[in-house]
Amino acid sequence: MAKTIALHLQKGGVGKTTISGTLACQSALDGYSTILIDVDPQGNASSWFLKNKTPKFEFADVIQGKCYINDAIVPVASVDNLFILPTFGIDGGLKNYSETKLAEEPFVIQDAVNEIKKEFQHIILDLSPGLGRLERAALIASDEVITPMTPEIFSLDGLEIFIDELSKIKKNFRSNIEHSKIIINSYDERIRQHRDIYKEACKGNFQIYRIPVDPCFRKAQEFSTAPQLFKQRGRGLKPKTLEAINELENTIWR
Ligand SMILES: Nc1ncnc2c1ncn2[C@@H]1O[C@H](COP(=O)(O)OP(=O)(O)OP(=O)(O)O)[C@@H](O)[C@H]1O
Ligand SMILES: [Mg+2]
Repeated sequence: MAKTIALHLQKGGVGKTTISGTLACQSALDGYSTILIDVDPQGNASSWFLKNKTPKFEFADVIQGKCYINDAIVPVASVDNLFILPTFGIDGGLKNYSETKLAEEPFVIQDAVNEIKKEFQHIILDLSPGLGRLERAALIASDEVITPMTPEIFSLDGLEIFIDELSKIKKNFRSNIEHSKIIINSYDERIRQHRDIYKEACKGNFQIYRIPVDPCFRKAQEFSTAPQLFKQRGRGLKPKTLEAINELENTIWR
C-alpha cells in the first residue's frame, strides 16, 4: 500500500510546489510508480508538468464524482513513472468546491487517495497556502506532512501556528499523521539570518533538512521537466541540492 505525504505550511511561497514536485520526480526517477496530486486551486504543479496540455478531467471532477479517478490521472511526458492528478488553474472547479461543498465532506480526499493506494507506490500531495477545509481534507488523507519553510522569522511563527492547528486536526478527525520533518528551503549558508533560523529550528524535536537556493528549480518549471533532468550549458542542480533531495528521499519512503 502506498505511503501518502503532503508538503505543508499555511504560508505562501515557501516551496511547497517546488519540493513536492521535485520529490515526486526523484521517486519516479528511482523507479517507483509515483503520483503527484495537485490539491491547489492555483494549479501550479499541473502547469509545471502539463504545460500546453489540457487534460479532460481534473481532481475536482474526481472528488465530486463526475469521473472515475483513473480517467483523470495523466502521465508526465518528461519523467518516466510519474503521474499527475491535475487541477486547472483557470476555470478549475476546486476553489468553488472547497468553498461550498467540502465542509460536509472532510474525508473526500482520503477516499480518493484510498482508491489508488494499490496502484501507486508513492503518493504526494501539493497543497495550497492557508489552513482551511481544503488543506484540512488533504492532511486527513496523508500519512505524513513535511513542512517547508523559508529561512525567515515569519516562517518560524507560521510553524508554531501550523503545529497548533495540526494537533486540532489530529484530535478532531482521529488522524495519525506524522509530522517530524522540516525543510528550510532557499537556504544560503553565507547569510547569518539563515544560519540563525536553522539553529532555532534545531531546538525543536524535528529532523531538519536544508535545500539551497538553486536557480535550476525555476528553470525546470519553465521547461516543464524534472529539476534533476534539467541541464543548461552542461549545468544542472547544484551538488548540495541533489544531496539534500537524496537525503530526504531516503528517509521519507523508508
Ligand atoms: N530552493 C529554491 N531555490 C530557488 N528558487 C526556489 C527554490 N524553491 C522555490 N523556488 C522558487 O520560489 C517560487 C515559489 O515557490 P513555490 O511555488 O514552490 O512555493 P509554494 O509554497 O508552492 O507557493 P504557494 O503558497 O503559492 O503554493 C517559485 O518561483 C520557485 O521556482
Ligand atoms: Mg504551491
